[in-house]
Amino acid sequence: METLVIRRPDDFHVHLREGEMLRRVLPFTAQVFERALVMPNLTKPLISTYKVKEYFRELDRYCEKQGFKDFRALRTLYLTDKTLVGNIAWSQVWENVLAAKLYPKGTTTGSAQGVLDVERLGPVFAEMEKRGIVLSIHAEMPEMHSDYAEDEFLIGPFWWIYQNFPRLKIVWEHVTTAYMVKLLERYPARVAGTITAHHLWLTRDDVFSNPHNYCKPPAKSKEDMVALINAVTSGNPKFFFGSDSAPHWKWQKERAKAKAGVFSAPVVMPLLAQIFEAVGALHRLEDFTSRFGAEFYGLPLNTGKLVLEKRPWKVPLAYTRDLDGEAIEPIVPFLAGETLDWQIVL
Ligand code: DOR
Ligand code: ZN
Repeated sequence: METLVIRRPDDFHVHLREGEMLRRVLPFTAQVFERALVMPNLTKPLISTYKVKEYFRELDRYCEKQGFKDFRALRTLYLTDKTLVGNIAWSQVWENVLAAKLYPKGTTTGSAQGVLDVERLGPVFAEMEKRGIVLSIHAEMPEMHSDYAEDEFLIGPFWWIYQNFPRLKIVWEHVTTAYMVKLLERYPARVAGTITAHHLWLTRDDVFSNPHNYCKPPAKSKEDMVALINAVTSGNPKFFFGSDSAPHWKWQKERAKAKAGVFSAPVVMPLLAQIFEAVGALHRLEDFTSRFGAEFYGLPLNTGKLVLEKRPWKVPLAYTRDLDGEAIEPIVPFLAGETLDWQIVL
């Protein structure tokens, strides 16, 4: 049997949620990844140092309870129009926040308190630049068709930030198009992009036929998907892994006004192995998942290992019980019911 051993990976973009949902989904990330950058768009977003502290305490408590001693949740702060310079400084000093997330208002799940006027946050970006806090961007322009929303954001608000803060480190989260790949390649190393596993697998037709494939920004064309696969297998350190695993309850996905978000955590590493293998680039997987992101964020590389075996595995149709066997609201994983070539050896 074929076995693949890689340095333990990092997920530089994940939604772990809170309460019951957090308890249920945490193991899928914490058993596989050594670190994950946890997104702050909760029901009550992490807009202050105090909220960051409260949430990550809860998260760390669950990690301890469930026995994930080697997993580290990396912290983020949520930017609003009212974020103060002090929020940035305190979040770094007291709570070790690594990145602040910019959601343009109304673009996705949990962005209602997001930013309307990027230019008013100038002093905040200056403080982040000074302190080496990364600006993580959901790069979509509000109220625009999703085919153009990213380009519009990048030539507008992003360009303003990029030019005015010449040492600020910036991540374009979940890059989805060939155009974005090309554009990103032309920027200096301080601008990088995460790419999800599902954008390497889906095109917009898959989104029309299954609400569990719907996320923001949505998957685009076949050519875009191929460009993303080429980017992640090219060995270019500007592209690193962020799953954007974003669970919602089944009932929130299977209704009109379905919530955006693909719950990919249970399948991402097997799926990436399958995709990288299909294009003859398995040797590049480790850099994408376990090196380039850490280097961009200035973190040491993980020392643990992750073992994958080439043994077919059927993705469950839904998760309906918690770890103690108690019934919970079902959550449907990405690729539910499909068979994948690789599986993780825990
Ligand atoms: O599809 C998405 N879901 N995109 C995001 O940016 C947020 C996420 C969520 O929190 O559900
Ligand atoms: Zn996200």
